Parts: sequence; structure tokens; C-alpha cells
Amino acid sequence: MTTPLHVERRLPGGFLADSLRADARAGLTAVPKSLPPKWFYDGAGSELFEKITGLPEYYPTRAEREILYETAGQIAALSGAGTLVELGSGSSEKTRLLIDALRSAGTLATYVPVDVSEPALVTAAQALIGEYPGLEVRAVVSDFEHQLGLPARDADGAPRLVAFLGSTIGNLLPSPRAAFLARVRASLAEGDSLLLGTDLVKDPAVLLAAYDDAAGVTAAFNKNVLAVLNTELGADFDLDAFEHVAAWDAEQEWIEMRLRAATAQTVHVPGIELTARFTDGEEMRTEVSAKFRRESVTAELAAAGFALREWWTDSEGRFGLSLSVPA
Ligand code: SAH
Ligand code: AVI
Repeated sequence: MTTPLHVERRLPGGFLADSLRADARAGLTAVPKSLPPKWFYDGAGSELFEKITGLPEYYPTRAEREILYETAGQIAALSGAGTLVELGSGSSEKTRLLIDALRSAGTLATYVPVDVSEPALVTAAQALIGEYPGLEVRAVVSDFEHQLGLPARDADGAPRLVAFLGSTIGNLLPSPRAAFLARVRASLAEGDSLLLGTDLVKDPAVLLAAYDDAAGVTAAFNKNVLAVLNTELGADFDLDAFEHVAAWDAEQEWIEMRLRAATAQTVHVPGIELTARFTDGEEMRTEVSAKFRRESVTAELAAAGFALREWWTDSEGRFGLSLSVPA
């Protein structure tokens, strides 16, 4: 018999709608304009991201999966986790490697996927319930920048493992990233651990191809944020009037995705009573995707109060996975 899916909504009623309005107002009136990447992920955006993970140019998912395949047994042994919490879990696809290893080790009782995208979260959690009889799956809809959604330890006191995969940490700007890591640290206790996936600095040509694929899936993903504003705020963005841009910032060591207005245009956003004007060629930033080095990851973790226990990369050195514990 399968256990029913338990979905927890940790955010106050109306929180996501209010923050979308606030972010759209702040971002569309800023100079230069920008929008936060968390709004890519409605049902269609989450599906587009899943397509990206299978593209020949988008190596991070394959590289991280390779590392997890090699190290999941070690991670299970080192963490001894009774609860696996995953932030920004999306499809939970790679997570199955961790769940398998933790189940083989005999420690895992509960999996807690946390995501802002309810459609992706519920689909993934339903599938896992069917695949892992006896595993308690507690899906949490939350914005991890606002409310982490970490459960307390189970009554038996088994350790928790927090996984933050895919290099989603790189989608946070440096200052919010430091604050986020500090909040994760504050919510963990001795014996708990953090598993963090970080994409690494490499040849800019490889990076640019990963964010500007030949099939145009990343372009569609990027423009989806405009579709979200159209649906949620009644905006009249013409998606064909914007071009996808991916650029490497060598100083900051991050990829920036932007949307460039193909012509001068005026957009109405009734949900926030705003008229936004774009000049011909104006670019609006929609995402940064920071790329890391072992030293930068170790330093950022240390600043947040974590000590690095293990550092693994894939065979081509493209992606890093770290296991760290409260210092
Ligand atoms: N971890 C998966 C998915 C990465 S895509 C992987 O490695 O493939 C990024 C995921 O993070 C999406 O599912 C998105 O909905 C979620 N996400 C982005 N910003 C978020 C936020 N602020 N709070 C919670 N989830 C967020
Ligand atoms: C989820 N996140 C880590 C992805 C990334 O690579 O920064 C999102 C993405 N953006 C474009 N392609 C994929």
C-alpha cells in the first residue's frame, strides 16, 4: 500500500502572489531592469528546465549525476541520514541515487523535497511515493530564501542531510547567497550535513553553449518568465519581441541570462498598475548562474559556519559536489 502524499504549504497565504508583484514592480522600474530567476518555474518553466537537463550542451546535470552515482554510498555512510531534505528539488531525478543509497544503508525514513514550483514538486513526490514503498515523503511548497522549510529531527534523533543540487546556489547573488548559507547553517545541528552541488569555472565557450543551446530550449525557458508575468499579472509582453542573451562575466565569474528588446516597446502590467517602456536593444537581466572554484566554495561555506568534509568532481572536472558539516 502506498502512503498518501503530504503537501505542506509553509508560506503565508498570498505570499507568492505578493512577492511576484513586488519583484515585478522593483525589477521593471529598476535601471537596468531585472527579474529574479525563481519566477521561471511555473509548470511550463519546470518542464522546460527538465528539457534543458537533457540537452547535449547542458553538461551540469550529467556531470552531477556522474558524481552522485560514484559517491552516493559514501554520502549515505558519512551522513547516516534519517531525513533527507532537498532544497529546490524540481523533478528529484538525481536524488533517486541518494535515496537508493540511504535506503540500502538502512537509515532513511523521510524525504522532504522543498520547491517553490508546486506542479513540479507534486509530480515528483507522487512518483517517489510509488517507487519507494514505506518512505515518508513530505513535500514542502516554500521559497527557500524566505522560509527554508527544514523539518525538526525525527523523534529518534537521526541526523538530517540537506541537499542543494544542480548548482541552484549559483542563481543567488553573492550577498543573498551568504545570507542563505548562514540560515541553512543556523537551522542545522551537530551531526547534520549539507550536500552542495556547484558548477565550476571553465572555458567560456563551453559555458556559453550550455546557456544558449542550438535547439533554443534555453531561450524558451528564459522567455517563460514573461509568460508568467502575462498569466499572473495580466501583462501583455510579446515573447517574440524579445531575444535571448547569454553572456559570460569574467570578473564576477558568472553567466548572465538577459532578455533583449528587439524594438522599442511599451508593456502594460495591470496586476501592478505599471507601464514599462523598453528602448530598442534594452537588456533586462533574468538570471545569474555563478560558477565556482573549490577554494571559493570552501571559503563561502566556512564564512557560513560549515567545515568541508569531502569534495568530489566528475571525471572531466566540470562540476563540484561538497559534503560539509557544522564547524
Ligand atoms: N535540483 C534540481 C532542479 C534544479 S532547477 C536539479 O538539480 O536538477 C531549480 C529548482 O529550484 C526549480 O525546481 C525551482 O522551482 C526551484 N527554486 C528556484 N528558486 C526557488 C526558491 N526561491 N525557493 C524554492 N525553490 C526554488
Ligand atoms: C537551476 N539552475 C542551476 C540552472 C542554471 O544552470 O543556472 C537554471 C538554468 N538557466 C539556464 N539554464 C538552466
